Amino acid sequence: MIEFIDVHKSYKNFQAVKGVTFTIQDREVFGLLGPNGAGKSTLIMTMATVYRPNSGDIKVDGHSAISEPGRVKELIGISFQDPKYDRILSAREILEWHARVTGVERGEARRRIHEVLGKFGILEEANKRTWMLSGGTKKKIENAKVFVQRPKVAVFDEPTAYLDVPSRLMVWDMIDELREEGATVLLATNMMDEADRMSDRVGIVNQGRMAIVGTPSELKASLKGKDIIELRLVRDAPQFAGELEQIQEVERVDSPEENVLSVYLSNGKTLLPLIINKISSKGGIIQSVSLNEPTLEDVFLNYTGSKLV
Ligand SMILES: Nc1ncnc2c1ncn2[C@@H]1O[C@H](COP(=O)(O)OP(=O)(O)OP(=O)(O)O)[C@@H](O)[C@H]1O
Ligand SMILES: [Mg+2]
Repeated sequence: MIEFIDVHKSYKNFQAVKGVTFTIQDREVFGLLGPNGAGKSTLIMTMATVYRPNSGDIKVDGHSAISEPGRVKELIGISFQDPKYDRILSAREILEWHARVTGVERGEARRRIHEVLGKFGILEEANKRTWMLSGGTKKKIENAKVFVQRPKVAVFDEPTAYLDVPSRLMVWDMIDELREEGATVLLATNMMDEADRMSDRVGIVNQGRMAIVGTPSELKASLKGKDIIELRLVRDAPQFAGELEQIQEVERVDSPEENVLSVYLSNGKTLLPLIINKISSKGGIIQSVSLNEPTLEDVFLNYTGSKLV
């Protein structure tokens, strides 16, 4: 449904996107992950035809973002990361205007706007002018544009940033509804739980390049250390990292927080006594131990961190 074909995009001399190629299938939910500044929003803006790529192309249902931008715009609906509104309009007027320009019939638009604002619990708030809205409410309005439009291809750039917990769950439900109706969804997010829960496949962008694409479970399984032992020590955790890295089956050791060591292993269960012994014999005091499967967060850190797999 969506093909990014060797997309390059520079801002003046700065290369933000350096040759990205990937495909999103019809009716798929594709999670776009990557560190701040990796190029996610730039990819979305080029797909939205807001920016023109320096080279390469993006095809949406076979239509080129470069040679047929009008056709592409008709197919997609986008919730931008950082929307800029005309401050004079109310939130409801913005939604009415959006429904009109995207061709939603008037009565249907009124019904959908009422429904979506009701689900977010902002029927009253929506009468305020946009400059008065809180950050979270602004984000709800931006998402509401897509839920009112109900496009063939729905794109969300950080849809749940600033949102409270019930609203996040509501957005997820509403995205699920879009997908049930047959939409294809591109979801850029920095929330790994969101990506894991929502995505059929994810792609991790790093420094303007696509580092890896796969289903969340494929990517978790692709980590060399399939098991992770997490050790919480009373003190001095970092001084044991080097020691543990000398064990043959230990792939690497991270310290995600103070006095915690994450030990990535090819075989966790049988090594646990050895690891505990090593630390205890050097005077380390272990407070707690847990054995974990890799999470999408581990996948993210592996493919974007300094220690690449
Ligand atoms: N309009 C612009 N002019 C100049 N540089 C830009 C512009 N927009 C983005 N950039 C730069 O391009 C790079 C990619 O930015 P982009 O917004 O695509 O990242 P992102 O992956 O969406 O990050 P985030 O997670 O923070 O949203 C960054 O280094 C950013 O500073
Ligand atoms: Mg962004």
